[in-house]
Amino acid sequence: MSLGLIGGTGLNALPGLEVVASHAVDTPFGQPSMAIEEGVYAGHKLFFLHRHGGRAQPIPPHLVNYRANVWALRELGVTRILAANAVGAISAGMAPGKLVVPHQLIDYTWGREHSFDDGSSGELLHVDFTQPYDGVLRSEIISAAESAGVPHSDTAVLGVVQGPRLETAAEVQRFAADGCDLLGMTGMPEAALARELGIPYAAICMVVNAAAGVGAEPISMEAIRNTLLEETALFGALVGAFVRRQSEV
Ligand code: HPA
Repeated sequence: MSLGLIGGTGLNALPGLEVVASHAVDTPFGQPSMAIEEGVYAGHKLFFLHRHGGRAQPIPPHLVNYRANVWALRELGVTRILAANAVGAISAGMAPGKLVVPHQLIDYTWGREHSFDDGSSGELLHVDFTQPYDGVLRSEIISAAESAGVPHSDTAVLGVVQGPRLETAAEVQRFAADGCDLLGMTGMPEAALARELGIPYAAICMVVNAAAGVGAEPISMEAIRNTLLEETALFGALVGAFVRRQSEV
């Protein structure tokens, strides 16, 4: 089994990853966000891709080439994908600083290249997406978080919005009424594309702010940056525990 890690905001690089090779992969859908790093983390091989490009000028969520990213990981032999997403919290109990392993999502994005199906295969590609995240991968992440003592929540509905702007307070009320616990901008179409390719995929959300109108304070980019710094350490501990357990299962 070969693990691919897709980093999000705040995770330009995976601290502690010993990079052994860098793969510039071309795909039928164009270039991925960056050359994919092959490295060793906590003694285990993995592939790392930062979806915003890992550079000073980040690719915004609505312009990420999700198809090229997922395709390129598969080209490198990745058979499971763990994705990180920075998110805002709607529900109580999902305070900034917390890691959350969502179990469901609602897709509000639009205008993104959201399928590999261009109609040329002669077959209709209606993948089952009842459970958008892989159940086995989710439970392994949750067990790893428990064993590493990383504070986390193991159920949440992630609403994936188009961005790049944040929401109005009224929009957040509507997303709450829809059943969303969290809001992020990058969870889709990534999860569905992985499903189309048959690659088990799960997400780890890093809560960085209270969604618009939910918190007592206005949303502050500085507070988000500080929270991300703390969460990157937690995320690293969780991924470390996860990969160590891979050799045991
Ligand atoms: N809304 C949507 N996406 C986000 C947020 C938010 O509040 N915070 C981080 N990503």
